[in-house]
Amino acid sequence: MAEKAKIAILISGSGSNMAALLYHSKLPNCPYEIVMVGSNKPDAGGLSIAAAEGISIFAHPHKGMTREAHDQIMHDAVIKSGADYIILAGYMRILSAQFVQKWDGRMLNIHPSLLPKYKGLHTHQRAIDAGDKFGGVSVHLVTAELDDGPILGQCKVAILPDDNAESLAKRILFAEHQLYPHIVCEYVSRFQNPKYLLDKVRALALALPQSHERESHGSEGWRVGSEKSGKYFAYFNNRHHGEDHIALLVKTSGMDELLSLCENQPDIYFKPAYYGASGWVAIILNRPNVDWEHIATWMQRSWRSVAPKSMTKLMDIAEQF
Ligand code: GRF
Repeated sequence: MAEKAKIAILISGSGSNMAALLYHSKLPNCPYEIVMVGSNKPDAGGLSIAAAEGISIFAHPHKGMTREAHDQIMHDAVIKSGADYIILAGYMRILSAQFVQKWDGRMLNIHPSLLPKYKGLHTHQRAIDAGDKFGGVSVHLVTAELDDGPILGQCKVAILPDDNAESLAKRILFAEHQLYPHIVCEYVSRFQNPKYLLDKVRALALALPQSHERESHGSEGWRVGSEKSGKYFAYFNNRHHGEDHIALLVKTSGMDELLSLCENQPDIYFKPAYYGASGWVAIILNRPNVDWEHIATWMQRSWRSVAPKSMTKLMDIAEQF
């Protein structure tokens, strides 16, 4: 099994979601491990649960500190733990913009409502007062706006006629404990998910001028130029021809470059079957921490190498300004 993603969990309270994530991490094939549990409350119940399970814990009260200063202390502790992701689980702090920025795309939160409904506090009472048939829970990426980032998953929970905020919260917590580990697993292993990778590659390819998609021998490919006479500049290779990896195929300058890339950085590049013979290199996509700017640069280069001169000249001129 591939190396596990390292997650740090931040809590302020009882930490029942943290516990759900923790016990899930003990199940076979769980793609993440918890490397640290942190809190702004030294007496948060969840800390002792984590410590008893041998997880390193960290606490630093926020009292008397600026938001930025406290966030920085938490950030440093998370970095020290080696975590790739921060999972907020009842961490009752509004985060500074700098902190959110540092963890852009790598920080998740759980919120006890069906977002975008009922951001903020007292979510259950507000759902009951509104006469909603369902409450629920959402897991989302954290962005600068409170409870507002892209939603990664939700679970609906029926509201009973005699529910009050407390009884509903209790039942929703069961749903939280199911949803959070499921979404965290899905998110940290998305780099192995062909659909996620294809979507990323497609977006980059179609953002290039005059490009369109056309299938080629069962692979998605992208061409520049007209539908009739366009030329391929990229292919998505989902383990075709018995390859071990999901990869993006782009054009190199020729065999010398191709072979030196494959030799010097074998964990990133390989020579693909068939296409390799004509100078196409495969860039492995199903690995953690792919640098998507690097992928975009390769794609632009490949696009340039086959695009009509009239078009690349225009691009050159535009780039000078
Ligand atoms: C949960 O209801 C969660 O949705 C919200 O805070 C609560 C934390 O509970 N963000 P616990 O500490 O995980 O038990």
